[in-house]
Amino acid sequence: MRFAPALIVRRFGLPHRRIPAMTRAGLPAAAGLSWVASATAAPASAGLGHGWQDALNSAGPQAAHIQDLWRLMLWMCSIVFALVLAAFLLALWRAPRSRPDTAPDLEAKQRPEAGIRRTVVTATVVSAALLFVLIVASVWTDRALARMSTSDALHIDVTAHQWWWELTYDDPDPSRQITTANEIHVPVGRPVLVTLHADDVIHSFWVPNLAGKKDLIPGRTSQMQFRADRAGVFRGQCAEFCGVQHAWMAFDVDAMPPADYEAWAAAQRQTPPAPSDPLLARGRQLFLSSTCVMCHNVAGTTASARKGPDLSHVGSRRTLAAGALPNDAGSLAAWIRDPQKIKPGNNMPAHDFAPDDMKALVAWLESLK
Ligand code: CUA
Repeated sequence: MRFAPALIVRRFGLPHRRIPAMTRAGLPAAAGLSWVASATAAPASAGLGHGWQDALNSAGPQAAHIQDLWRLMLWMCSIVFALVLAAFLLALWRAPRSRPDTAPDLEAKQRPEAGIRRTVVTATVVSAALLFVLIVASVWTDRALARMSTSDALHIDVTAHQWWWELTYDDPDPSRQITTANEIHVPVGRPVLVTLHADDVIHSFWVPNLAGKKDLIPGRTSQMQFRADRAGVFRGQCAEFCGVQHAWMAFDVDAMPPADYEAWAAAQRQTPPAPSDPLLARGRQLFLSSTCVMCHNVAGTTASARKGPDLSHVGSRRTLAAGALPNDAGSLAAWIRDPQKIKPGNNMPAHDFAPDDMKALVAWLESLK
């Protein structure tokens, strides 16, 4: 019984629906790159199980408040619906029946409906009272959401781009700031204060397991707070139509035990060393001598552009292209070779490297952990 609502949503609604595996037919199986196509067969969502993008599976106080409100509304509306149906059936059952000899215009006068005034007044009062309960519950939920303490919060700046998420972890000490993309790591139990910006059009930041939605509006700054009370990877999704790749504007929130978070943060602050391995060194050289550097930053190199995602630690991320691809060598090569086939309309141009060059380039990028 506990989860009639969950069952209904699972059956019909969005939150439980698996993310469709994207059509892979268009991925290049170029000569010498057969490993590319085979490695991209699995959707980026594979292996994360059920309920990782689910407003009814709250992992923190903010989502729990919203979940409670949702449950109250569902049960109240279901009960009202059932009562209205019952009243309707009762009315049909008890309706005056005409006999063959009853004149139609006499019927109403002969058998006036009993107590109609009282019934209408009662129904009006009950409806108003129930709506009032929902208003109070909504306001209470809003206040509860705003009340969450943000003392000692982790501050993260989120900038939405068509179609990816730029993330900067603020720190008073600039050398401790972290810039990454599409994958938010947070320590379990610590409040997170997210400051939201949009680079181009309106987007919406939504991690159903952790909090409600908040729009990101160009030229404006907004904030929201959440806290993860259990470890896990939760999927976030842009929730405001923002162009043709809106559906592939996803991100992950990885809630980690505090010690693991500190280890992750420390690794992200490291500058990747120049590789001694010849293959990786060649990949790095190819990257730095191609147009990649016009859009991307890699710490410790001459690539310092901010147009596209920061790649300093791209190899440590779970997905590529804002959740569109799993992060592995084959997917990365497919993406570099023809990003427009995978996510048409995005700003990344195609790069036709020779197979050996591609292998070196991808090996180096994947080594950036
Ligand atoms: Cu960004 Cu939809």
